[in-house]
Amino acid sequence: MSFTVNPLSPVLGAEITGLDIAQPMGENLAKDIRQSWLDAGGLLVIRDQTLTTEQHIQFSRHFGPLFGAPGETPLQETVSRYLHPDHPEIYRVSNRVENGKPKGRAGAGTYWHSDVSFKQRPASASIMHAIEIPDIGGDTLFCNMTAAYEALSGAMKEMLAPLRAHHDFAQTAATQFAKPVVIEEDLKGDNRAIHPVVRTHGDTGRKSLYVNPGMTTGLDNFDDEESAVLLGFLFDHATQPEFTFRHHYRQGDVVMWDNRSLMHYAINDYGDQPRYMERTTSIGEKPA
Ligand code: SIN
Repeated sequence: MSFTVNPLSPVLGAEITGLDIAQPMGENLAKDIRQSWLDAGGLLVIRDQTLTTEQHIQFSRHFGPLFGAPGETPLQETVSRYLHPDHPEIYRVSNRVENGKPKGRAGAGTYWHSDVSFKQRPASASIMHAIEIPDIGGDTLFCNMTAAYEALSGAMKEMLAPLRAHHDFAQTAATQFAKPVVIEEDLKGDNRAIHPVVRTHGDTGRKSLYVNPGMTTGLDNFDDEESAVLLGFLFDHATQPEFTFRHHYRQGDVVMWDNRSLMHYAINDYGDQPRYMERTTSIGEKPA
């Protein structure tokens, strides 16, 4: 099976057309898709897909073990109420309410972040199927942390090289979740990690910044003020428009982003217009 790849912006992202990922696929095709994804800086939009939830999971398995799959690490307990009732690999993002219960997490990811960076082995691919999209709005912003890293001066790269940062779900919980929703167990240590500030991508060997405003709480061994200034600089630097791309969804898009080298931000500007997305999240390597 062949497919067409077109770039979406100079800094990151490509779209694939002419491909039906609902059908089981062999490793060669999966390898080609993976290579297109890496070549596009870690953001691939596969257009015009009609997928069942099972087909989405089957496709996602080509890109690594999935959070929530039987025998694998689950996502933090706090989001368990938003998982698909029959498929714990599927995190549902939605403002829809059905029978008085949220169909997914409303307003998820409305801040710059890299998925589950607070885990010892955080996410590599997140693969999101756009099932219902608003008429206007509901775009997602992506930021290329490899390009941001490469644009730093040699002196700054040298200073950052040995640094490590703390990532903690407690910060996300405090700023993004209403208090009764947060499950206290999630704050006790399983969702806390120290990672290098600059990581080397396991597939491409390229270096990226690996800190994000949503989950990074501070630099190891720095005092709070120093840490805030340095992280503030890195966040402002990385989110300059030149390093970002804004994805406007079409229904049926399957969007794959690489959390090892990107941050993303879901724009919550669509009010009551229904939006329903199903997402799988691959367990990546320990950042190094
Ligand atoms: C997320 O995974 O952070 C949500 C992304 C989105 O809904 O656009």
